[in-house]
Amino acid sequence: MSTAATGHLAGRHIVLGITGGIAAYKSAMLVRLFVKAGAEVQVIMTPNAREFISPVTMSTLSGKPVITEFFSANTGEWHSHVDLGLWADAFVVAPATACTIAKMANGVADNMLVTSYLSTRARVFVAPAMDLDMMAHPSTCRNLDTLRADGCIIIEAASGELASHLSGKGRMEEPEAIAAAVERYFAARCTMSGRKVLITAGPTYERIDPVRFIGNFSSGKMGYALANEAARRGAEVTLVSGPVHPFDTLPGVKVVRVESAREMLDAARRAFSDADVAIFAAAVADYRPERVLDRKAKREHPGEGLDSIKLVKNPDIAATLGACRRPGQTLVGFALETSDAMQNGAEKLVRKGLDAIVINSLQDQGAGFGTDTNKISIMYADGRPTLEFGLKSKADVAADILDNIPTPLPSR
Ligand code: CTP
Repeated sequence: MSTAATGHLAGRHIVLGITGGIAAYKSAMLVRLFVKAGAEVQVIMTPNAREFISPVTMSTLSGKPVITEFFSANTGEWHSHVDLGLWADAFVVAPATACTIAKMANGVADNMLVTSYLSTRARVFVAPAMDLDMMAHPSTCRNLDTLRADGCIIIEAASGELASHLSGKGRMEEPEAIAAAVERYFAARCTMSGRKVLITAGPTYERIDPVRFIGNFSSGKMGYALANEAARRGAEVTLVSGPVHPFDTLPGVKVVRVESAREMLDAARRAFSDADVAIFAAAVADYRPERVLDRKAKREHPGEGLDSIKLVKNPDIAATLGACRRPGQTLVGFALETSDAMQNGAEKLVRKGLDAIVINSLQDQGAGFGTDTNKISIMYADGRPTLEFGLKSKADVAADILDNIPTPLPSR
């Protein structure tokens, strides 16, 4: 049996699909293993699976109601296969019968399990379980090949005595081996283990008086997506966040909330000396009022400060820290441009002492502030060719950025 890499299942979201085969009883143990390792498990059962193991057992072990149908019979509530598919960090089908394998291979979305499979972007693991002749049938072999080609990881069935009392290949692999395969997958993705990452995110607000400020439309979504993706890869993240609506963060992310550019610089400076990677995703206000009024300025009283506000320059956080970087650190900036995106990006890359700059243009539809998507290019200081990406979710853009910036060795 394979040995599990330890600790990599903690905090993961796992969808466990159970289909109608004798091996379904082993899925109870699989849920226990996942939950004991700290994962959250959502079980989906096909209608036939309920003949083999009770949904009560599975919901008790997973701590969540089991989903079988598109709608709850009790409340009429719709179970969103799209939300479930997107929630999953891993999608495991164990046991997978010949019928479900065939449906998955051909996109036959006639139940909640296959529909969620078609909606997921997570890695999919399939643990077949069936009689030896079904297992060896050219049709099953063809369907498994299709699933492999579609990116699924097939956890090969073992040989031994089968429910039919025949002996041969077709026994579902043991739950420990399935859990270990999923854990190894997460371990392999932990490419940032031991790295300290500093990320700035969101806007800054620069106070005019107790009720007014100068700010911008940044939502912080891109910076938070980067922080979560780095944490998923095993990094220890300090996220210095300007004022944004709170987003969920993963356990490896420490959020330091600040309001103004100067507060952001102080917090970023504290985390910077230790950081292996610093990503400046914040939309920092370039100027702040020279004077902050201690009482609310009145509209009817010109001269109190609202009719003309004298502004002074804020510190440039990326450039300040870029000027005192130590060898071995990777520094990445962002440039959100409305015109001449590439030229402006190239200039900022040099001026701020960065290794790479992520350029997005407000001229591209779906890119920039507040959207859930982004379209980026990554330009490098060392002269390697600029990379261009299509329109993607900010979570996928975060993965592209972390895949394509140098990950230095941990500094300690
Ligand atoms: N940045 C920063 N501190 C600032 C301004 C910008 O750290 N005071 C960082 C941003 O987080 C981003 C990069 O610098 O990584 C470029 O930000 P941008 O606002 O595009 O550039 P500016 O230098 O402010 O230039 P301009 O607004 O004139 O385009």
